[in-house]
Amino acid sequence: MTTTTKLHPKTIEIVKSTVPVLETHGEQITKRFYELMFSNHPELLHIFNHANQKQGRQQRALAAAVYAAARYIDQLDAILPVVRQIGHKHRSLGIKPEQYPIVGKHLLLAIKDVLGDAATDEVITAWAEAYEAIASVFIQVEKELYDEAAAKHGGWRDFRRFVVVKKVKESGVITSFYLEPEDGKAISDYLPGQYVSVKLSIPGETYTHIRQYSLSDAPGKGYYRISVKREAATADKPAGIVSNYLHDHVQEGDVLELSAPAGDFTLDLSKTTPVVFISGGVGITPLLSMAHTLAIRQPTRPAAFLHAALNGRVHAFDEELRMLAERPSFSYHICYESPSDEDRLHPHFGKEGRIDLAWMQSVIPTKDADFYFCGPVPFMKTVYRALKQWGVPEEHIHYEFFGPAGDLTKD
Ligand SMILES: Cc1cc2nc3c(=O)[nH]c(=O)nc-3n(C[C@H](O)[C@H](O)[C@H](O)COP(=O)(O)OP(=O)(O)OC[C@H]3O[C@@H](n4cnc5c(N)ncnc54)[C@H](O)[C@@H]3O)c2cc1C
Ligand code: HEM
Repeated sequence: MTTTTKLHPKTIEIVKSTVPVLETHGEQITKRFYELMFSNHPELLHIFNHANQKQGRQQRALAAAVYAAARYIDQLDAILPVVRQIGHKHRSLGIKPEQYPIVGKHLLLAIKDVLGDAATDEVITAWAEAYEAIASVFIQVEKELYDEAAAKHGGWRDFRRFVVVKKVKESGVITSFYLEPEDGKAISDYLPGQYVSVKLSIPGETYTHIRQYSLSDAPGKGYYRISVKREAATADKPAGIVSNYLHDHVQEGDVLELSAPAGDFTLDLSKTTPVVFISGGVGITPLLSMAHTLAIRQPTRPAAFLHAALNGRVHAFDEELRMLAERPSFSYHICYESPSDEDRLHPHFGKEGRIDLAWMQSVIPTKDADFYFCGPVPFMKTVYRALKQWGVPEEHIHYEFFGPAGDLTKD
């Protein structure tokens, strides 16, 4: 798809000149924007993640997208890859074209509120036009994604009912759910690394909750498997709503609503380069799907799988990885932060403490590989920086956030 912006040069100039102002007030504006929007449209609380709101992660993600759009307003083609990534998330959540004007209206109200007199009529008019141009790119990209998901064999457009046919405990904190469609019809294939959104109506909760879960098995098996970590309460954090509900209350025979597989963090099966998977904790799920797919589709492609976990008690999918590592082309290496004596005897145990470049270099045969990683944000920062330090080019580095996208270069 190509985008043509028909904005007046003056509008472009005004919008671009407000970038520094947005950078100063960006988060304040988006915070205000959400307050205004949710008070006028509480129904939108059915689709937004309340924990992301409370922690400001969503505010930061939206602010970053707005800066990018403002900077590239006269060449929106340049931000199409970012729009596609967000578009996957929006499509998976069921975001509709008619919701864009609601966001636009409240964004402008927030800009006025925060900037006060600096938000002249001229600035507001320019931003209204710019928002419309940006929104139309998102709507177009998302229309293509909706059409694509629905047109696939076994595909569908919005949410579809799936029965939990099997529930399996994978570790002290991770449980898998095997899901088949209630209608008994076909389900679409997916690319290894993609995720589904699960929509839940939890008794006692005012709003529905939607969360993303990566598909953890290889495609083409007639079921989808998701593997969920229980987000337990700690001294300063409440228990995660959906993960705990799934663990404690969703049983075999129950129904979950799922949107079709989405996401652009996928294994490129057209390549033959060596591939390295690096996961931390539950970040293993998309990489495990990739590793299983590799075993089926490219069994001789060289691969290394590095997994970091606290210890053996919370280490999921060890059996599956041991089986994958029976192939000579596939090596498996474990890093435990605080292993037990028994953990140290594991045949694939390689490192005690946290993952670092020295250990990565000692077990990864070559840096001329494609690197895929996923895990908690601090873990991802460590891995990203290590790969950069090693000299791995950006185009060989691929990663996924289990929350709104962030910036791995910043502390
Ligand atoms: C693309 C993608 C793929 C994913 N794949 C997986 C997967 O395969 N497996 C998996 O387990 N997860 C995955 N996730 C994460 C998953 O979507 C959920 O975010 C996760 O299960 C937590 O949801 P929850 O409802 O249990 O927690 P939430 O209720 O959403 O809370 C999330 C966290 O925020 C904390 N929190 C909530 N409120 C506050 C507050 N007021 N102050 C401070 N902290 C607070 C909670 O304690 C918790 O730790 C994925 C996410 C994405 C985006
Ligand atoms: C041009 C307008 C928009 C921009 C720039 C934008 C930007 C973003 C960004 C950057 C993310 C985070 C993506 C990620 O990394 O996971 C996101 C997520 C999201 N967006 Fe949008 N968005 C827009 C319009 C909308 C609209 C119209 C809606 C519906 C009312 C919407 C609802 C959501 C929701 C529910 C999420 C996930 C939030 C979460 O998980 O907390 N967005 N959007």
